[in-house]
Amino acid sequence: MKKIIITIDGYSSCGKSTLARQLAGRLNYLYIDSGAMYRAITLYFIQQQVDWNKTDAVNNALNNIQLEFIYNQISGQSDMFLNGENVEQMIREMLVAEKVSEVAAIREVREFAVAQQQKMGAGKGIVMDGRDIGTVVFPDAELKIFMTADPAIRVERRFKELYQKNRNITLHEVKENLELRDYIDANREVSPLRKAEDAIVLDNSQLTTEEQLQLVMQWVEDAIMAHSS
Ligand code: DC
Repeated sequence: MKKIIITIDGYSSCGKSTLARQLAGRLNYLYIDSGAMYRAITLYFIQQQVDWNKTDAVNNALNNIQLEFIYNQISGQSDMFLNGENVEQMIREMLVAEKVSEVAAIREVREFAVAQQQKMGAGKGIVMDGRDIGTVVFPDAELKIFMTADPAIRVERRFKELYQKNRNITLHEVKENLELRDYIDANREVSPLRKAEDAIVLDNSQLTTEEQLQLVMQWVEDAIMAHSS
């Protein structure tokens, strides 16, 4: 069967990665979490105390960053490696979440990440989620999905996820962080979050993950059919 590129964009905590992972599993495609790359770059900048307001400092730092996704046999998912170190856990911490939108708004950082993302998709058979995947990274993708969900539901989902790891986290903190990230992601100058004209909107506020998968698998079949001739 013809392999296609599937892009999933949308606000923070809409469940993009859950859907992307499920689709990749069903289709035997590669799943790439582009947000993990921005998170790993942010972690490096924090650890190395890079002044990301200075272009030279950013360029120097990027020259020293190597990003890789490596399959983890135990979890069955790919972990993000930064310069040979598994940073999968660390990049999900609040410390990174608080700064990542700022770092992801930097032109040089985006160029660095986008070039690598485009290489990963060269062979098709890929599901990639993020903010600019359907608009900038793969504007010719065969299936583009733009996800949204009720903000209150998103906050609750994110809170539950973070609370598992950190019992000190508050609902208020999570809400503030989500709102701020959505604002920065949608209003930045370079590649702001927006729906590609040809993207299908998926509002999953009232859908279970199973229902959502069924619906989207139909879109996938349609897209493969439409691009097979
Ligand atoms: O999907 P996520 O929450 O892990 O993404 C982390 C941040 O990275 C998010 O605040 C916006 C940014 N991002 C981006 O600007 N472009 C992407 N393609 C993916 C993520």
